[in-house]
Amino acid sequence: MYKRIITFVSLICISATISTTAFAVEQQAGVAMPDSYSADVAASILSKGGNAVDAAIAAQFVLAVTLPEAGNIGGGGFMLVHTDKQDDFIDYREVAPLKGHRDMYLDDKGNVIDNKSVFGVLSAGVPGTVAGMWLAHKKYGSLPWKSLLEPAVVLAEKGFVVHPKLAKNVSWYLDYLQKKDIKVNFAEFFGAMKAGEVFKQPVLASSLQRIRDEGSDGFYKGKTADIIVNFMKQQGGLISHQDLAQYQAVSRKPISQPWQGYQVLTSPPPSSGGIAILQWLNMYQQLAPSKGEAALVHNSKEYVHLLSEIGKRVFADRADYLGDPDFYPVPVKQLLDENYLKKRAGDVDLLAISTTEQVKPGLYESEDTTHFSIVDKWGNAVANTTTINLTFGSGVVVPEAGFILNDEMDDFSAKPGVANAFGALGGKANEIQPRKRMLSSMTPTILLKDKQVALVTGSPGGTTIISSVYQSILNVTEFGMSADEAVNSPRFHHQLYPENVIRHHSGLKSEDKKALQQMGYTLDNRHFGDVHLIINENGKLDAGSEAHGRGKALVLR
Ligand code: DON
Repeated sequence: MYKRIITFVSLICISATISTTAFAVEQQAGVAMPDSYSADVAASILSKGGNAVDAAIAAQFVLAVTLPEAGNIGGGGFMLVHTDKQDDFIDYREVAPLKGHRDMYLDDKGNVIDNKSVFGVLSAGVPGTVAGMWLAHKKYGSLPWKSLLEPAVVLAEKGFVVHPKLAKNVSWYLDYLQKKDIKVNFAEFFGAMKAGEVFKQPVLASSLQRIRDEGSDGFYKGKTADIIVNFMKQQGGLISHQDLAQYQAVSRKPISQPWQGYQVLTSPPPSSGGIAILQWLNMYQQLAPSKGEAALVHNSKEYVHLLSEIGKRVFADRADYLGDPDFYPVPVKQLLDENYLKKRAGDVDLLAISTTEQVKPGLYESEDTTHFSIVDKWGNAVANTTTINLTFGSGVVVPEAGFILNDEMDDFSAKPGVANAFGALGGKANEIQPRKRMLSSMTPTILLKDKQVALVTGSPGGTTIISSVYQSILNVTEFGMSADEAVNSPRFHHQLYPENVIRHHSGLKSEDKKALQQMGYTLDNRHFGDVHLIINENGKLDAGSEAHGRGKALVLR
């Protein structure tokens, strides 16, 4: 493929850490985003000479306005960055408040109290998004911070046109709150949204203006911090001035492992996703019959069964060994050790389901999040997944600040053996402690080939994120799919519990479904995830956004 060597001199980009200087190799740029507003803004930042991180920061704030199900300033996330100089994982995950404690969701008898970690102020962790974007900008930004915030301020102030899928989500959520008699203030702020009509958020616009003008301090200190803390006091919440002032986004080393001629860059703990996808890919490679006649057919009964068996082992490890590495010694090396994974794969029966009880951790004996992928013309890439946990988070809007609070505390293990909203189990490694990050499944991932970005991917979907991500990788690398095919091809998910249940998209062949049922699987047909993926073949990009959502992918010539 022809690569143009150009003499690129950018006056604006001189201070950027990312390579945007003379003799950089220019290629196509591309974005795969969860809605059209974020796609258009990201594309416009790239065409003004901004780099992938600039575009990501602007998009993140736009999504806080136009995608209230998951876009946020009241939540957190992970940003994986690849540049020609370094790889970086900006961890802006929420943390438990200082007053949080292990048993905060248990009653007198030690039972988990329904919904307490999912709705209302007590379900919120200390938000990390603004600090995360601020850190990303400090390290990699090339355009002024204010210019990156401006599009979001304008969309909040002047309004945006509500997509029918957003209106549908709002009305579903309002019904749900009513049916379950959940008392939160969501309806007061978002109840008026109507498909096709302009929706304005002046209060959110003021909060975004403070972030625009004062940077990170415009959220964690001063007026916004006072508003949050006063609201917490009023409502019996825990987040204090000290929590906000002490919050820090951190840079971590991404997990980086070779696999099938690629270098996989992916998410380290407190994400469980990077370890999980590498375990999955590694065991798949060991167990899948090699190419040729014996090769597995995509989404066949054999393929679904094999990956489900691997999934059981991956999720057994996740439950026991994974948590915030600043609080718990996560055995990353051991979990990814070649010999360990060989042994682990050794007892998979390609023809029969293993008994769930036999699958123990191996070592020592509605829903919404949102993801986007960006590649700039210099070949830098960002994979960013961000969340307030469940759709519309805690259902609580900070009234004078106009943003929705996350319900990320549910990602902790409230009690060993009791599943969270995603059916995930956990124990000591993921118990609640003050200032600890809750375990996540978010898995922004980048594959490199010969040091160039080959693929950028990620998805929402709680624990199903991991399946969406590794299947999107296999779809491209093993089955040669285009970006559109890879994101829209039916996926499936198995996570050990519930026992022998495979959740799957519509579109699996009926003979394969029948055969899986005959093997003993129960099939649960429910969509999950929203993959946004970019493939790079020698400088030529192919970007795809899943049709099920309201995403938009663009390649800029
Ligand atoms: O961090 C996590 O794993 C979850 N809080 C993500 C939630 C999510 O993806 C919800 N979306 N569908």
